[in-house]
Amino acid sequence: MRKPIIAGNWKMHKTVRESLDFIRELREIKFDTSKAEVVVCPNFTALHEAGQALAGSGIGLGAQNMHWEKQGAYTGEVSPAMLQDAGCRYVIIGHSERRQYFAETDQGVNHKAKAALQQGLTPILCVGETLEEREAGQTEAVVGRQVKGGLEGLESGQVTQLVIAYEPVWAIGTGRTASAQDANGVCAFIRRTVAGIFGQDSAAKVRIQYGGSVKADNIAELMDQPDIDGALVGGASLDAAAFAKIINYR
Ligand code: G3P
Repeated sequence: MRKPIIAGNWKMHKTVRESLDFIRELREIKFDTSKAEVVVCPNFTALHEAGQALAGSGIGLGAQNMHWEKQGAYTGEVSPAMLQDAGCRYVIIGHSERRQYFAETDQGVNHKAKAALQQGLTPILCVGETLEEREAGQTEAVVGRQVKGGLEGLESGQVTQLVIAYEPVWAIGTGRTASAQDANGVCAFIRRTVAGIFGQDSAAKVRIQYGGSVKADNIAELMDQPDIDGALVGGASLDAAAFAKIINYR
């Protein structure tokens, strides 16, 4: 059985103070982490204090990006060990906003996946097609290429440690969610792609999230799908009450 994983990606939102206020508010609300692993991903400057504020809450801490090198002359970058030092257990890699605005490639995402796993961090590897690609019937070609590229050279024991997030770009921040069936179809395709490389056993263990306008009123239907093992939530994870409703989806 795969344990579902629900993660909040705060993107470039919230100061340290605002992050701590969110965590305090969330901790005052009753939420259940027994059915799903829950993670929040603040920005770099808030990570350390957020990690301390989350202690004992059952909620994990994740970062939104990292560099794959261990250390060195990489101005502006943050290493896997630095994230771990700040209290992170997860890291989002290959988010479509990073691919789109910061020219991230499948090869870079692959370096990050390997470096994160080597550091003992759980990578949340994002894949997803644009609207143009979907309309051109390219969804499987694009997502398949991103999955194969991102996972290249991993061992089957490693691939089961990571999480894949299917986030169709056209559904991010647009209020347009993929239908639960459509989202499940692509997640099933991702699982078949993983099976083709690493075998059925590993594919059956990999957790695949859906992301893109997930909210309290659509989470249950998405989570009911057999190949969707959780959600990567953007906008609706910025408000503690709204995020708690998503965690308590059932
Ligand atoms: O990583 C989560 C994300 O890209 C989805 O954002 O605002 O559509 O939930 P949102």
